[in-house]
Amino acid sequence: MTPGEFRDFAVELAESAGDLIRRTRPEVVQVLDTKSSEVDPVTEMDKAVEAYLVNRIKMARPDDGILGEEGDSIISKSGYTWVIDPIDGTVNYLYGVASYAVSIAVVAGPDNPLEWQVIAGAVHAVVWQKTWAAAIGQGATVNGKPIKPVTPPPLNKSLVATGFGYDADRRAYQVELLSYLIRHIRDIRRLGSAAIDLCLQAEGIVDLYYEMGLQPWDMAAGSLIAAEAGSTVCGLQGEPASSTMVVAGRGEALTELLAILQAAAADLPDK
Ligand code: IPD
Ligand code: CA
Repeated sequence: MTPGEFRDFAVELAESAGDLIRRTRPEVVQVLDTKSSEVDPVTEMDKAVEAYLVNRIKMARPDDGILGEEGDSIISKSGYTWVIDPIDGTVNYLYGVASYAVSIAVVAGPDNPLEWQVIAGAVHAVVWQKTWAAAIGQGATVNGKPIKPVTPPPLNKSLVATGFGYDADRRAYQVELLSYLIRHIRDIRRLGSAAIDLCLQAEGIVDLYYEMGLQPWDMAAGSLIAAEAGSTVCGLQGEPASSTMVVAGRGEALTELLAILQAAAADLPDK
């Protein structure tokens, strides 16, 4: 498959998983299990959607690898791996807050987020029924239309999206950092889905995004979509974006945000 064909298949998978979620969401969603902490929930739907996606991918591309948030892990024989987050924003799904998404990326190369290359991705916001997609070198789209570049405002007029981890100490540190940053920006948005945050940044609906502690499935598709829309997606001190830190933005505002985050040593490994 070409990167464009991978993107189109990722879009079809994400949208059909979105249909499944909309059709079968119970009135009261129950927590099935917890993961990294007692406030990191897993629902029946997280499991069911991952199982659906794994099944579809295995049927269409039996030699590809799979890395899923809910534990599916298949080593690639083809050199391509599907990195999937069946519901990014599970807490929103649980409570019925609208911002949650299915996120699907295809990566090429070694089984290591620092070495692989994301070649295609799709993020489908389930309630908004909005799909962002990208293939490497081919730009990014929202509902099939090219995302047009926007001129970002300066940092003090910028709307900045971010998120918090599930670990109490990490969140406390993240809030400390935010309490400093908030003096320098228009305002903050915490929408609860990193994949959606990255896509909103790609579109210019928020101006900037940063978060520490993300997992590969939270950011693989959204990072490509933001980069293909013309944003810079990076870490601190010239590092690439990683689970340590992801920053997405453009222009002078991005430079200023990076300077503030770097000065605050936001990427301390033990945080
Ligand atoms: C979470 C969301 C959230 C981010 C967390 C992620 P989940 O993913 O993307 O916005 O702040 O770091 O873990 O648990 O809803 O799939
Ligand atoms: Ca996630």
